[in-house]
Amino acid sequence: MAVPENILTNQEMEALVDTNDEWIRSRTGIEQRHIANDDLTTSELCTQAAQKAIRDAGISVDQIDLILIGTVTGDVTFPATACFVQEKLGARNAAAIDLQAACSGFLYALNLADGMIASGKIKYALIIGGELLSKIVDWKDRSTCVLFGDGAGAAVLGVADDSGRGIIDSYMKSDGSLTRLLCMEGYGTKVPVEQAIEQRLNYIHMDGPDVFKAAVTAMGDAASIILDRNNLSGNDLDMIIPHQANIRIINMTAKRIKAPREKVYVNVNRFGNTSAASIPLAMAEAKEKGCIQKGDLLLLVAFGGGFTWGSVLLRF
Ligand code: ACO
Repeated sequence: MAVPENILTNQEMEALVDTNDEWIRSRTGIEQRHIANDDLTTSELCTQAAQKAIRDAGISVDQIDLILIGTVTGDVTFPATACFVQEKLGARNAAAIDLQAACSGFLYALNLADGMIASGKIKYALIIGGELLSKIVDWKDRSTCVLFGDGAGAAVLGVADDSGRGIIDSYMKSDGSLTRLLCMEGYGTKVPVEQAIEQRLNYIHMDGPDVFKAAVTAMGDAASIILDRNNLSGNDLDMIIPHQANIRIINMTAKRIKAPREKVYVNVNRFGNTSAASIPLAMAEAKEKGCIQKGDLLLLVAFGGGFTWGSVLLRF
């Protein structure tokens, strides 16, 4: 994992918009978030996380066949941020693509890379979730700017050995009828740039309460469907690593599958919602702290703009 050094606390947020620590903490569980300097790019943060993941996996950069990045805050509209990361890493044998599934980006990337490996087309994939959301939040909109943070997390996925470790099952869904509830409409082909800036469409737009309701239902469904079809209960898991959007969404998801609180990894209080980066950030931190071990049964569950959502059951 990699996060910018700068931390913005709820107390500091009070100087920027009409808000207060108590409101943010009670509605979201967030106490602080990491915020990038102007000159930091998504590809730089992704590269820092990737270098650690590659070291940890014990492979050489040349062995990576695919770099797949979940992000909605790429360095530029095109080329893909994965191309900048490929160059920074010197991964000369890798294909490089970005994937856009908002907060579900890492989970979707994990599934696609797993499919590529299972088909025999590639051996090693570097998957990354990386976001600099601070660069697309409206710092005048208190209902969104308090929620988000910056960060990147990375993992190396390889061909399964006979240890039983790897992805056991996955579930992915989307509903494009609700795109307007969580979006950024500026800088695409739909709205001319000048108009987008004038109408403040170059920032995240979110209908918080409706997104909240959809997230609770979808994350609960994604978690329970994958458990049911593998004849497991929340108690059988060693750890649940949910997308870190809001402590209330996390708690309601855990309650739906009757998972004890100590089996749910939470770091939204220190990082805020980092979108596609949130699951790999949480996984990397859980691993570093010894909260998850090799061989543990993990459930990842995510929900994001689109809407997109899903879950992955894996033996770590
Ligand atoms: N500080 C103080 N007051 C605020 C703030 C703030 N930062 N933001 C909004 N308010 C006010 C509103 O203006 C409103 O005031 P009013 O009643 O006078 O009109 C009041 O607080 C309640 O606003 P709601 O939006 O109804 O508050 P709610 O309890 O729904 O909480 C929140 C808002 C935290 C955004 C919640 O809806 C939520 O978490 N939604 C999910 C959002 C999310 O996580 N999105 C991320 C992307 S999707 C994903 O990652 C899962």
